[in-house]
Amino acid sequence: MTQQRGQWSGRLGFILAAAGSAVGLGNLWKFPYIAYENSGGAFVIVYIGAVALVGLPIMVSEIILGRRSQLSPVGAFKKLGEGRPGGSLWTGTGILGVLTGFVILSYYCVIAGWTLRYILMAVGGHLGELAAAPDGFGAYFDGFLADGPQQTLWYTVFMALTVGVVYFGVQRGIERVAKVLVPILFAILIALAVYATTTDGFGRAMTFLFRPSFHELSRGAILEALGHSFFTLSLGMGAMITYGSYMKKQFSIPRAALTISLLDTAIALLACVIMFSIIFSFDLEVRKSSTILFTTLPLVFFKLPGGSVISAFFYLLVAVAALTSTISLLEVVASFAIDQLRWTRRQAVLVMGGTIYVFGVLSAWSFGGSAKLSEINLIGRESTAGVFGTLDYLASNWFLPVGGFLIALFTGWVLLRKDAQAELEEGHGPFGFFAGWRALIRFVAPLVVGAIIVSVILGAEYQ
Ligand code: TRP
Repeated sequence: MTQQRGQWSGRLGFILAAAGSAVGLGNLWKFPYIAYENSGGAFVIVYIGAVALVGLPIMVSEIILGRRSQLSPVGAFKKLGEGRPGGSLWTGTGILGVLTGFVILSYYCVIAGWTLRYILMAVGGHLGELAAAPDGFGAYFDGFLADGPQQTLWYTVFMALTVGVVYFGVQRGIERVAKVLVPILFAILIALAVYATTTDGFGRAMTFLFRPSFHELSRGAILEALGHSFFTLSLGMGAMITYGSYMKKQFSIPRAALTISLLDTAIALLACVIMFSIIFSFDLEVRKSSTILFTTLPLVFFKLPGGSVISAFFYLLVAVAALTSTISLLEVVASFAIDQLRWTRRQAVLVMGGTIYVFGVLSAWSFGGSAKLSEINLIGRESTAGVFGTLDYLASNWFLPVGGFLIALFTGWVLLRKDAQAELEEGHGPFGFFAGWRALIRFVAPLVVGAIIVSVILGAEYQ
């Protein structure tokens, strides 16, 4: 007996859910940090180029694969690969995707849990106390990280929220939450951005971000921008295949992919404008840019009037962004069990969510003792110590690029041209840029992503 497959209620539901998946810690935490390290300007341009030339075409491909097959990654590759070169071997790409979702979810929820703790501390007035103490945040944070039970507690709460949403399914769970939370996220972000324009550092932040000086651009920065374009758009593991499989045929894929990519990019840039304006206003020295979000920024919030309120909203924003991302990660794994193993959604979400949860406890405990905040490099390029660091390193440097590479090869070279075109034009009408998209997915994407993988193999420096 097959169950009724989930579907988005309409175009808006899909866009908000997919944008919610894309916008996450990658935008609010990682992007400002790497943009800062790579001196803004030129790096921002390379990043936008990577999103446009590699990210966007791959996003279109993933949605095509999902909507055409009406299945999540494993089933999609199995079905569409049948009788084509490579045949059932392509199923491996889907399996890699499910595995990647499993791994990323397990450590992403640990970081996401920190935001919950910060919201409570902002509301309870404790953030203000820390801001007043010398090196309050630095000392607090190192202690917090090493505190296994605390880490596990917040991790557990966040995972429970994720499981709770996905449990209710595509329309009643994911879509409903996205429709409430994503607009809230935009509203908080816009309010903070408006506020940022009134600060003294706003002008300097804009110059830093938008005036390129290309001589400062290193090869490592280019690779970092490329790699990040995958993570931030939720590409390379079939999250967009899964979400695309719930999309109705009467909606345009190119338009949806463009909207999602634009929203994601705009939010990453807004996050930079907000954080840099505030940081530059106080001429703070950012010692370690990867800690901006949890140590530098709260300090600055309390130099402003209404620090508790601003910081509470801000961490709520980060938590919301993270939750709409973690639900997409769990949905990939759960939908595999639903589509392939024929489990009920209830069973799939509870068993898969529970298994990932148990596995992730290892990450929650991995900061104990030796690992200091300064050594954490979430979604980073370097292998850092501990379970957390190793998983993150594997996922962002290997699984996602390799997955993206295979997705590009499959859509560009294995899927029949006429099938790709039919799916793209369904709900859109004649697509003038079809030849352009196909050239990008056949040649540009595999070459560029291939270059990322080769440089990882060669152990290129990413600094
Ligand atoms: N895109 C999210 C972020 O920027 C993270 C994320 C959610 C993700 N789902 C994904 C990354 C699937 C890769 C693949 O934080």
